[in-house]
Order: sequence, then C-alpha cells, then structure tokens
Amino acid sequence: MARDVRENQCLQSRTISASVRPQTIGKLVKNRLYCADALATMGSWPDGCIDACITDPPYNIAKNKRGLAWAFSSHVTMASSWDRFVGDDYAEFTLAWLKEVCRLTKPNGNIFIFGSYHNIYLIGAIVQSLGLRIINSIIWAKPNAQPNITCRMFTESTEQVIWLCNNDERRARKWTFNYAEVKELNSGKQMRNFWQIPLTPKNERKFGKHPSQKPLLLMERIVLAATNIKDTVLDCFAGSGSTLVACKKLGRSFVGIERDEKYCQIARARLKDTGKANITAFSQAPRSRAAIVQDGASRR
Ligand SMILES: C[S@@+](CC[C@H](N)C(=O)[O-])C[C@H]1O[C@@H](n2cnc3c(N)ncnc32)[C@H](O)[C@@H]1O
Repeated sequence: MARDVRENQCLQSRTISASVRPQTIGKLVKNRLYCADALATMGSWPDGCIDACITDPPYNIAKNKRGLAWAFSSHVTMASSWDRFVGDDYAEFTLAWLKEVCRLTKPNGNIFIFGSYHNIYLIGAIVQSLGLRIINSIIWAKPNAQPNITCRMFTESTEQVIWLCNNDERRARKWTFNYAEVKELNSGKQMRNFWQIPLTPKNERKFGKHPSQKPLLLMERIVLAATNIKDTVLDCFAGSGSTLVACKKLGRSFVGIERDEKYCQIARARLKDTGKANITAFSQAPRSRAAIVQDGASRR
C-alpha cells in the first residue's frame, strides 16, 4: 500500500478507542462459525489468510430509537442492541473492523460490504480515506419492499453493496471476476449492477428470524461472481449465516463470526441443512456452464 495511505491508516488507528482494539483469542479454522466478537477474533489471525470477505456490518439505524424503526420486513424492525452506537463510535468501529479485514484478506482479494443509506456513505468515506480501490457498487432493489408507514418519503426499497479490491487505487489488479459465469447466469447478457431480488423468502427463515437476513439468491450471485471454488471467504458479521450457506453450496470454504448466540444457532442449523447440490442462483436460469462448474465442486 502507498506510503501516504499507510501513514493515513496509522494516524487513524491512534483514534480507535480501547473498547474496539483487537485482542488475541485463537486460531483460524476453515468452515467454522465463531460465536464471538469480530475484532477480538480477527485480531488473532495472520495476515493474508482469507481470499475474500463478504460482510454485512451493523447499520447504525437503531441509534436510540425504540419500536418505530426502519422496517426490513413485515415482521422485524431494526431496534436491536447490536445496531446501536453512540456519537463517533460507529465510525471508529467501522475503521477498526475494515482495517482488520484488509489485513486478513490477500492483496487484490475482493471485499464486499453491504449497507443502507444510513451507513453506506460513511463506510464509503472510510474506504476512500484508506485509499482502497472501489471496483463497483451494486444496488439490491427489493421489488416486494414493505410500504412506508409514515407516508413522508419514498418507500425505501434498496440496499447498496460496495465492491473493493484489497489494494490501493493505483496498484489494484487481477481481482477475481467470473465474467463468463455471471453472463451465462444472466441469459448470455452482461450483468448490470442493479439487481432486483425479492426479500428473503420464508423457507430461508425456517430456523429462526434475523432482522436483516439476506436472500440466498443475492449472496450466491456475489459468491459466484467474485470468488473461486476452494477460496476461503470471511463474513465477520455473519448474522443468520447467509454468506456461509452460499459458500457451502458453491464449494467455497467459509469463516464466519457472529457475536449473538441466538443468531449463531440459526446459522449453524442452516449450515447443517445445506448440501452442495441445491443451488438457488441457478434455479432461475437454464443449466449453464456455471452450474457445471458447481457440479464439479460437489463431486470433490
Ligand atoms: C446486518 S447483520 C448481518 C445479517 C446477515 N447478513 C444475515 O444474512 O443474516 C449484522 C450482524 O453483526 C452482528 N454483530 C454486531 N457487532 C458485532 C461484533 N462486534 N462482532 C461480531 N458480530 C457482531 C450482529 O449480531 C448482527 O447479527
């Protein structure tokens, strides 16, 4: 990474409060979900041990609100304690975990970060302050988003995903993008970055509910596009385990971290229930080269 970027990182690291500093706790084991704090856990792992990171950090929506918060689904609102930060804590927290993710991810490895309008601009600013290369952003548009009950604004129906290459602007190169597979998935047309995918269906919530559970169709598309079979993919805010389930289905190794035991239980149940053959991402496309690639993975 360029000297000025490193200096910038050092400067910023001095501002991270003690409460979010990494501590040592153990060894990285592939295909494992760690029920623990992300910063403490990542802090004990070696540099460059991960091929890619796909993660959906807390949104900082709940703040001090109770009850009436932005609805992600018909059943749940974001009033959870894990999503509540005070003052500048959220920015410090974001900088701290992102720096750990950059350290763990191989140079030029892919990093995908989910967010809503509440946090994505702050995350984008932090990404830019670190000098990282932004490849794309993806808009996830939810055709069945819940109506806005206040009637004072447009109905919120999108989330954004920032796609980064783990290197500085000028040096970033050779990031993984499985162009041909993604094109086949899109009936032979180049895939655009506006993805209309419905909210998580009921059958993906059969082991319990998480307020911001992502649909597998969405996660599998990212995993397929931006990682290779046998890659190790980290989700440091795993929630109900959607990234991990997508990785397992598509023959990638995963490492998940989730602090809340009840979400870990949902994720474990989903992983146990997941085989490699039932590929949601391909269920809406004719049998394709991408599916054949996956069949090869499941035979191993
Ligand atoms: C936006 S949700 C992720 C949802 C996930 N994408 C899914 O599909 O279920 C963020 C998750 O991060 C977890 N979390 C928040 N702070 C954490 C921390 N410091 N370490 C580990 N997990 C944390 C929360 O408990 C929450 O489940």
